Amino acid sequence: MSDASLSQEHHTFPPDPAFTAQANGTAQMYAAADADFEGFWAQQARDRVSWATGFEQTLDWSGAPFAKWYVGGRLNAAYNCVDRHVEAGNGDRVAIHFEGEPGDTRTITYADLQREVCKAANALESLGVGKGDTVAIYLPMIPEAVVAMLACARIGAPHSVVFGGFSADALNTRINDAKSRVVITSDGGYRRGAPSALKPAVDAALAAGENPVEKVVVVRRTGQDVAWDDTRDVWWHDVVDRASDEHEAQPHDAEDPLFILYTSGTTGKPKGIFHTTGGYLVQAAYTSSVVHDVHPETDVYWCTADIGWVTGHSYIVYGPLAVGATQLMYEGTPDTPHRGRWWELIEKYKVSILYTAPTAVRTFMKWGHDIPEKFDLSSLRLLGSVGEPINPEAWLWYRKWIGGDRCPVVDTWWQTETGTIMISPLAGVTTLEPGSAQRPIPGIAAEILDDEGQPFTEADKVGYLVLTKPWPSMLRGIWGDPERYKETYWSRFGPKYYFAGDGAKYDADGNIWLLGRVDDVMNVSGHRLSTAEIESALVSHPKVAEAAVVGASDETTGQAVAAFVILRQDAVQEADEPGEGVDLVKELRNHVAKEIGPIAKPRSIMIVSELPKTRSGKIMRRLLKDVAEGRDIGDVTTLADSSVMNLIQEGMSARSE
Ligand code: PRX
Repeated sequence: MSDASLSQEHHTFPPDPAFTAQANGTAQMYAAADADFEGFWAQQARDRVSWATGFEQTLDWSGAPFAKWYVGGRLNAAYNCVDRHVEAGNGDRVAIHFEGEPGDTRTITYADLQREVCKAANALESLGVGKGDTVAIYLPMIPEAVVAMLACARIGAPHSVVFGGFSADALNTRINDAKSRVVITSDGGYRRGAPSALKPAVDAALAAGENPVEKVVVVRRTGQDVAWDDTRDVWWHDVVDRASDEHEAQPHDAEDPLFILYTSGTTGKPKGIFHTTGGYLVQAAYTSSVVHDVHPETDVYWCTADIGWVTGHSYIVYGPLAVGATQLMYEGTPDTPHRGRWWELIEKYKVSILYTAPTAVRTFMKWGHDIPEKFDLSSLRLLGSVGEPINPEAWLWYRKWIGGDRCPVVDTWWQTETGTIMISPLAGVTTLEPGSAQRPIPGIAAEILDDEGQPFTEADKVGYLVLTKPWPSMLRGIWGDPERYKETYWSRFGPKYYFAGDGAKYDADGNIWLLGRVDDVMNVSGHRLSTAEIESALVSHPKVAEAAVVGASDETTGQAVAAFVILRQDAVQEADEPGEGVDLVKELRNHVAKEIGPIAKPRSIMIVSELPKTRSGKIMRRLLKDVAEGRDIGDVTTLADSSVMNLIQEGMSARSE
């Protein structure tokens, strides 16, 4: 079958009976959860997590939309992810096979991990970190990131991991919002064959103004020179290596915060989504088991996400470690030193479960299947997808060329807010429909609503995805802003429905198809970016008067950032000089990278004299999206000045000539 013909027919894939026979997820689970929702989740909690004190009530929804799960229960997340596996006699099992980008490797068993986490917990305590203090973690993909997160969890100090690709400014905002007293970082990491620095961003973030930071712990990863503040900075190897490797894990309340993770919303200010301990850990362990089908004795699992995103939190740290999995952790990019690097790693470590994003799959498609074909990928038995809709072509390619025409592909829909997987097929149960996340997993309830907020089940009608019942790993709020939590998620369709912000439809078989965001949030390579955040970054540049940003569809990255800016008067004249406009666009792109991070750099910036606005002054992003995607503009009668669009469209076609 050629790649082109892969997508011509409608293929579905029933479960392979051999897979079903060994699968953790079963058809009975759907029935059990439907019959007794709370009983089902109580059972998951007892089966999958070790409690120091059992819970008295499974769910308290009396303060909706603020949920309490496993009321009265006490547990320690780090104990659950590490110590109990050692106590069960599995201390010699590899927890993490680490592969650095330059090819350096480390093998960390559960017993090693226990020692490392205990030392780090002792070190953090010696620096004054106690229960309830937040710790910012700004690290590359190295094992210390996992150790640092678990050490915080052990102490009961919520971690706030900031993706290493975010700028000093973004780090500063997050440190201040979470009031982090300690930052854990490194001198740098390896990226595309060279060391890249991280500590200077921390220094800049802390130099930018008042902040609550007392100590900065620095991991030595690359050995590059770093500026040093003797009163503030300490080396990880000085404080952690010297600490005792014994640390008693105290139980925490099921509802004690476990972490804060910032994500983009519809306004310029990122939201600190926070998760608590019990419910989050239960659903992380449950989904690692039933969706990823992890069999800890035999599988080698690999989630390619960065620890700075929720996927890294739930499916590198808490889920796989709670179930006692052996996993691969890789520092670098897929094309360093060559485009077969991932496949080489799968062959080397005999990876059996791979969890990645559609944007990666589409990139590999572009590079050609002859690259993965050179490697032995026969160890793989399940493939997962996350972060954005996976188009059927990419799904089929993934199954065929990576999964050897035998591995099931599970497309998993969820969000930072949901904490863990919500909608996904179960590989041993569901007949797979390429391109669709299919249906809520057992214990989860979703519907699609129309504009009036009425649920419907007709096929091919587009509506809004909502979740209709609370779930254990649901966000407990937005850090420091309970009102914004209610408003953002529980008001669009009334207090009964959690509004996810995604469009969705059913097909004729009742499968759910996710159709992307319906708000001003973009999804670029599976990363969430807000149009408002990039717009405010652009207008913070002295030459910019006004900016509008839209997500334009992009073959590889799903969406790409397209910006339209109006310059201030003095800058207009400058930009009219020959060649200046090009430099200015470059300057603005770099400015966005500095304000937010390189991932937010617009793919295109168009300098315009006006933006299309309604008579009430609202920017009509829909029209800009049409322009950025090269479509003819439709109805412009609601515009205050309809000639604006002609000018913009002319400018756009002049550029592409
Ligand atoms: O639009 C949906 C998309 O990613 C958003 C959540 O982004 P974030 O909080 O960064 O979490 C990403 C990793 C879980 C969702 O609102 N999304 C995520 N997974 C899928 C998806 N869209 C379609 N299909 C998916 N499988």
